[in-house]
Amino acid sequence: MRQKIVAGNWKMNKTLEEAGILTSELMGLVADEVKGNVKVVLCTPFPYLYPVKQQLGNNARISVGAQNCSEHDSGAYTGETSVAMLKSMGIPYVIIGHSERRQYFGEDGALLATKVDKALAQGLTPIFCCGEPLDIREKGTHEQLVKQQVEESLFHLNAEALQKVVIAYEPVWAIGTGKTATSQQAQDMHAVIRKHIASKYGAVAENISILYGGSVKADNAKELFACADVDGGLVGGASLKSREFVEIVKAI
Ligand code: 13P
Repeated sequence: MRQKIVAGNWKMNKTLEEAGILTSELMGLVADEVKGNVKVVLCTPFPYLYPVKQQLGNNARISVGAQNCSEHDSGAYTGETSVAMLKSMGIPYVIIGHSERRQYFGEDGALLATKVDKALAQGLTPIFCCGEPLDIREKGTHEQLVKQQVEESLFHLNAEALQKVVIAYEPVWAIGTGKTATSQQAQDMHAVIRKHIASKYGAVAENISILYGGSVKADNAKELFACADVDGGLVGGASLKSREFVEIVKAI
């Protein structure tokens, strides 16, 4: 059985105090209301990773993730955060290749492959993002592009390493727009990704969790998560409100 995961990507939001309040609300709601073996990951801004982790303590269900990491091990890279630093704080997850990183910070497939390698080498789970912009969807070449994104950054891994990666499909046109992919569009692309992985890695593809991201809300999560190849969600805006986020987690 593939691991079900609902991850909240807080992006660049919240003060330290607000982060603490949200975490505390989520701890209570998840403990009271969430059943089953779903994993919840809070991808907070860098400065809040350690305080939120401390606050969670030994919480069996909720853990933390970073939103990015450096492709370098250490050194004169002002403003950057290495995977070794994340590891030293006990951070288990890191988002790699979010479309905002690709778009605003020029991160390309080869760079992301290096970041994936760094994360895996330190024992962190990469949540690797892929997804097409609107013009590519309109041109009809979205499957080709997403397969290429997955190939460029993950296909150098051996099967054992690949199994440690979580993939998030986030169509760029659905991010922060309120325009969710239909469950059919999500299922179709998730199946394409899984089939593409199977073409190189065989049965290993069945073990990889593929999350959907892009305007996931409490009222559309159930339908999206019911799709055979959708193993959870990567949630932006709706992860900033405890009640809304917990309803999404419960939808799985
Ligand atoms: P929204 O849920 O706000 O559309 O953001 C999705 C996202 O980018 C998660 O990484």
